[in-house]
Amino acid sequence: MGKTDVMLGTMLKDFSHRTPVMTDVETLKRDAGIAACAYVSSGMKVGLGTGSTVKYTVIELGRMMAEEGLEIVGVPTSLATEKLATEVGIPLVKLSEIDGLDVVIDGADEYDPQFQLIKGGGAALLREKIVAQESSGMVVVADDRKRVDTLGAFPLPIEVTPFAHQATIRVLGRVLNCRVNCRMSGDHPVITDNGNMIADAHCGPTIQDPVAMEKEILNIAGVVQVGLFNNMCDVVVLAGANGVETFVNPNGRLK
Ligand code: 5RP
Repeated sequence: MGKTDVMLGTMLKDFSHRTPVMTDVETLKRDAGIAACAYVSSGMKVGLGTGSTVKYTVIELGRMMAEEGLEIVGVPTSLATEKLATEVGIPLVKLSEIDGLDVVIDGADEYDPQFQLIKGGGAALLREKIVAQESSGMVVVADDRKRVDTLGAFPLPIEVTPFAHQATIRVLGRVLNCRVNCRMSGDHPVITDNGNMIADAHCGPTIQDPVAMEKEILNIAGVVQVGLFNNMCDVVVLAGANGVETFVNPNGRLK
């Protein structure tokens, strides 16, 4: 199936009739985040992603619980989302205490025509991937800047152990044949919720085979996880100039 077939032939829901054309990025994020709540219904266990787009999903789910009688429990993918979900009144459960999730809604830094993703711009990729792995469906919320033909213009986040992180980063640079840097916050490395560090690989839009690349990176000692989310995303709820559109992965689990 060609790229165009995937992107156009699988559109499920068209929210454009109630979403005026807007270009303001924050408005697009909000529209996508709210529209994705259509995938949540009472009784569900919901993975709550991390980032500036999915925050609107979390806020809207809290509103639906307070005002519309929605009953769900959530599993957050970061300490930041845990705080927000608590503030908006979503009851939280531990992933290890339940038997899987019905759906996770999360953001992405890039997605390609095969619905493969780069995630981790917010340094939450490890928990996000564990939660996605436990979910029966994954809905990605994004604005149209995130849609790419080939992954990699966004530097690929890789979570690495603090132990010998410079050495791991050197190996990553050799293996990937590109510049890899330790993500910094001022003078200090960014520390993830898991106490690790983030390496960003500047490979450019060259990732033709993200499945092979994921395996290659995970094979390196010192790598905890990589922000390539392959064969996980079922639906992209995308906000752009045409309003909010929903693209369904023809090989995915959600219809
Ligand atoms: C965090 C993530 C985010 O979901 C991703 O960076 C997108 O965030 P935003 O919606 O703020 O652009 O992967 O680790």
